[in-house]
Amino acid sequence: MNPVILYKQVSEELCKFISAEMRIMEGVIQELDPQSIRQEPEFGDSYNAYCPPCLEALSLTVKPIIEQLVDKELAPSYSYGRIYRPGARLNKHFDRRSSEFSASICLEKGNTPWFLCAEGPDSQNPVCADLDVGDMLVYSGAKFKHWREGPYEGDEQIQVFIQYVDVNGKNADLIYDGRPKLGLPFGYKSSFVEKELKDQLDLGS
Ligand SMILES: [Fe+2]
Repeated sequence: MNPVILYKQVSEELCKFISAEMRIMEGVIQELDPQSIRQEPEFGDSYNAYCPPCLEALSLTVKPIIEQLVDKELAPSYSYGRIYRPGARLNKHFDRRSSEFSASICLEKGNTPWFLCAEGPDSQNPVCADLDVGDMLVYSGAKFKHWREGPYEGDEQIQVFIQYVDVNGKNADLIYDGRPKLGLPFGYKSSFVEKELKDQLDLGS
């Protein structure tokens, strides 16, 4: 499947609401358990959140749109939110197998453009978009490389990535990332996920 840009799929009101939840979550964690904030060097002081209830709920809300696009019955695998801060980078990479179908949705942004790109079967012609609030780029994160052009030069941008697997496909073992229920934290994921992440690190991707 070629990457597809879908415009204005999530209402501005809902984007604002979820952005506010993301900021509150970050504030609470900074206050209660600052050590638990996992920082990855390329993201600077960006904030990352794995599968908080607000993003899991968004994943269920958006699911019919992606099902219609890919003409398959899907289940969420995981959701991930990020508040990007100045200097953040997203280098070219593949996602793990749980990202059979991915949607990257812009929840909040300033005036600074920051292009998100994804390759499809024709790697010579990637699709690049400066997504606006409520827009999404849909692609297969596990199958095709994706990245952002250059470092982020704005003040703050909030983006959510929601991932799905085909319930009748070879990745169905990764429904909910192998967790018994939506909303459970990273520690509940399948051991397959752990192994894949380790393999990716070993390969330097
Ligand atoms: Fe990714």
